Amino acid sequence: MKQDIQEILYSEEILSKRIKELASEISTDYRGKDLLIVGILKGSVIFAAELIKNISIKCEIDFMAVSSYGSSTETSGVVRILKDLDNSIEGKDILVVEDIVDTGVTLTYLLKYLKARKANSIEIVALLNKQARRKSDLDVKYIGFEVPDGFIVGYGIDYAEKYRNLPFIGILKPEVYEK
Ligand code: IMP
Ligand code: MG
Repeated sequence: MKQDIQEILYSEEILSKRIKELASEISTDYRGKDLLIVGILKGSVIFAAELIKNISIKCEIDFMAVSSYGSSTETSGVVRILKDLDNSIEGKDILVVEDIVDTGVTLTYLLKYLKARKANSIEIVALLNKQARRKSDLDVKYIGFEVPDGFIVGYGIDYAEKYRNLPFIGILKPEVYEK
C-alpha cells in the first residue's frame, strides 16, 4: 500500500496535534450551546473520532452518508443522501465534520438540505481544504490544513475505497489512478 504513495503530507503525530487544537477551539466556541456533531461517512470517520474524543463539552454525535455520481476522482455535482440523520436537528447547533473540501459542491448541497430543517446554527470543520479548486461560495469555519491540488488518501480518505486505513495523509501516485 505504501508504495503507491508519492509523498507523505501529514504524519499521524502532526494530525493528532492539529486535531487537538481544533477540538479545543470548538469546545470554547460551543460552550453553553446544544452541539450536535455530524460526521460525513465514510471519509471523516477517523478524523471525527479523534476530534470527538478531544472535545471537552457535552455534545451529541450523528452521521450522514452522501454520494456524488461521477468518476472516482471528480465530483459531479449531483449528491444523493444514502444515510440520513437519526433525529430532528431543530434548535441544535450543528457542526458538520468533513474529511476534505474540494470543489465544495457536496457540502453546499448538504448545507442547503440541513438549513431547511431549522437548526439553530450550522458550521463546518474540514480536516483538509483544497481552496484552489473551489467552485462554490462555501464558508468553512474550521480547517485543519490547506492542501495542494493532487489526489490525497489516508486517515479515512480513499481512492476507490482503498487506502482509508493509512495512519497518515499522503498524495497518491498519479500512475495508480491514471491506469
Ligand atoms: P467536493 O464536492 O468537490 O468538495 O468533494 C468533496 C468530496 O470528494 C470529499 O468529501 C471526498 O470524499 C472527495 N474528495 C475530494 N478530493 C479528494 C481527494 O484528493 N482524495 C480523496 N477524496 C477526495
Ligand atoms: Mg467525502
